[in-house]
Amino acid sequence: MDFLKVHGDRKLNGDISISGAKNSALPLISSTILAKNSVEISNVPNVVDIKTFLKLIKMLNGSYEFENNRAIINTSTINNTVANYDIVKTMRASILVLGPLLSRFGQCEVSLPGGCAIGQRPVDLHIKALLQMGAEIDIKGGYIKAIAPNGLTGTTIMFDKITVTGTENIITAATLAKGKTKIINAAKEPEVVQLCLELKNSGVEIEGIGTDELTIIGRDRELIEYKPIKVIPDRIEAGTYLCAGAITNSKITLKNVNSEHISSIISKLSQMNFKLDVLENEVTINPTNKILPTEIVTTEYPGFPTDMQAQFMALATQAEGTSIIEERLFENRFMHSSELNRLGADIHLKGNIATIYGKTELYGADVMATDLRASSALVLAGLIAKGKTNIHRIYHLDRGYENIEKKLNNIGAKIDRLRE
Ligand code: EPZ
Repeated sequence: MDFLKVHGDRKLNGDISISGAKNSALPLISSTILAKNSVEISNVPNVVDIKTFLKLIKMLNGSYEFENNRAIINTSTINNTVANYDIVKTMRASILVLGPLLSRFGQCEVSLPGGCAIGQRPVDLHIKALLQMGAEIDIKGGYIKAIAPNGLTGTTIMFDKITVTGTENIITAATLAKGKTKIINAAKEPEVVQLCLELKNSGVEIEGIGTDELTIIGRDRELIEYKPIKVIPDRIEAGTYLCAGAITNSKITLKNVNSEHISSIISKLSQMNFKLDVLENEVTINPTNKILPTEIVTTEYPGFPTDMQAQFMALATQAEGTSIIEERLFENRFMHSSELNRLGADIHLKGNIATIYGKTELYGADVMATDLRASSALVLAGLIAKGKTNIHRIYHLDRGYENIEKKLNNIGAKIDRLRE
């Protein structure tokens, strides 16, 4: 297995180009199941989760080409509607095929995605919503077996909790259903907005885009003629690199970013005494003479994203004072804290509250990645730790960051990818 050797005490300087958003590309790829034509999606990040999802499309007997961040996907040949455990266990976002497969083919079997390191990750809200749309669902042997022999029927769905992939699943299910579906308490993340905009651009009647109440007029299984798509920039990758600039107290400029999508991150860094120059598609972070401690509560968009919590915990170890982080979305998303403490941080946990006492000197050590965003937090800490930090189990990192060591080495980091 690969591991990263991160040489510490580095200053960075230069530009980083942000890739397309993994969490937007995944539902967009899944939504090609609704299309009659071959669909072109550009600015797709070349990361493991994307390659896994494309493999799933192929397992269903769809076809794809993927080169130079451009995917061409044809689902007209799909004749298998079973998303099996082997592929779902490697990527829980596979659950995103449930809605489109069921609404197009009237039946499908999708392996229940297991939990993951950050929490139980149930899909009960996805299932409850599809039952309300007329599906018959049996959960047996670790599989969700769903049928809707006469297709799905639009109705009003009220989500008890805001769920990103739950909202995306119901948007795609509603697209081919009969009649109108209203989703109340819908997720408003930029990736949900892009999915709605691309479907609307291809003729689907959707209202309320960007709000927590969506209305979709179903097409009664009439497939769409999908127009070409360009994936939005990855807001979490962008936030991660801003934190790389912040933690090394360097000047870094992000290119091809959507600054509106990272306004909560920009605001938090400003509160920590960083000065940022913000343009629509370019953001520069500048060095500061003192990093101030912060208080973070993770919440749904447009609030502070849970996917940035680990990165800010690493940064908070360098703040002069005590920072508090409250993780409200996932029940076990603090595992990076013990790894950061191995590097010399002083972080204490009490339930879903982490208290970070700063400023602490960090010293290189062997650490272990536990999930995608925790891995990036360890890279950030390694950049400023004295000596070398070896980060193991970086398959987590490769799921969601395109060429992370290359992008950082291009602006002054020294990160080697080695084999155990
Ligand atoms: C999406 O996961 C993202 N993944 C996650 O990013 C992100 O952390 C999460 O949204 C929150 O923003 C993708 O978009 C592929 P949720 P998702 O359903 O949709 C509970 C990353 O780092 N819930 O919005 O699975 C759930 O337990 C990944 O790229 C239910 O109880 O998250 C959680 O507490 C990690 N029942 C909360 O809702 C359900 O049926 C939010 O989960 C569904 C969710």
